[in-house]
Amino acid sequence: MKLVFATNNLNKLKEVQALIPSKIQLLSLNAIGCNEDIPETSPTIEGNAKQKAQYIKLNYGYDCFADDTGLEVDAINGAPGVYSARYAGETKDANANMDKLLNELKGKENRNAQFKTVIALELNNKLVTFTGICEGVITLDKRGDKGFGYDPIFQPNGYSETFAELPMAEKNKISHRGKAVQQLIDFLSH
Ligand code: IMP
Repeated sequence: MKLVFATNNLNKLKEVQALIPSKIQLLSLNAIGCNEDIPETSPTIEGNAKQKAQYIKLNYGYDCFADDTGLEVDAINGAPGVYSARYAGETKDANANMDKLLNELKGKENRNAQFKTVIALELNNKLVTFTGICEGVITLDKRGDKGFGYDPIFQPNGYSETFAELPMAEKNKISHRGKAVQQLIDFLSH
């Protein structure tokens, strides 16, 4: 069975391919000739994941799964949330995004935050979602050089390191995306 993973990140694709039953063959967006930007116009993380999976089914005919992630910070009512990638502007600059967030939180005592990943799976004309959450705090400064995005300022609960200070394998075990992917794998394996 062929299943599209709505990504062109081949590392992500390989990682998931290695974990699911071998009878399911994962295809990237490139592999099905989808080179346009898929619309992500929903005001929610769930909505965007569903929109992407449904777009592929409708326009390319393949069963598909898509993921969407956001960082939700308590003290600013869950922002940047669905707008995490472009929080500081359309250039999607990770450093500028972190600077803006650190600035917003200046003087605020509550620094609790969570990463949320939703994976939407369009399979056999049914749409199912899997949600992974990782809770933590926003640090006062950037620490570490691994990972990407907001990793240098996110310290998961129970750890003294930020995501950017943890080895990737350690991050994957506890991360929002790791948890959502595990649920997807369990579902596809049954
Ligand atoms: P996407 O939906 O996976 O593209 O994620 C949206 C945005 O959330 C990214 O551009 C990053 O800024 C941020 N983000 C997603 N996952 C992570 C993560 O694991 N660590 C840090 N930032 C992340």
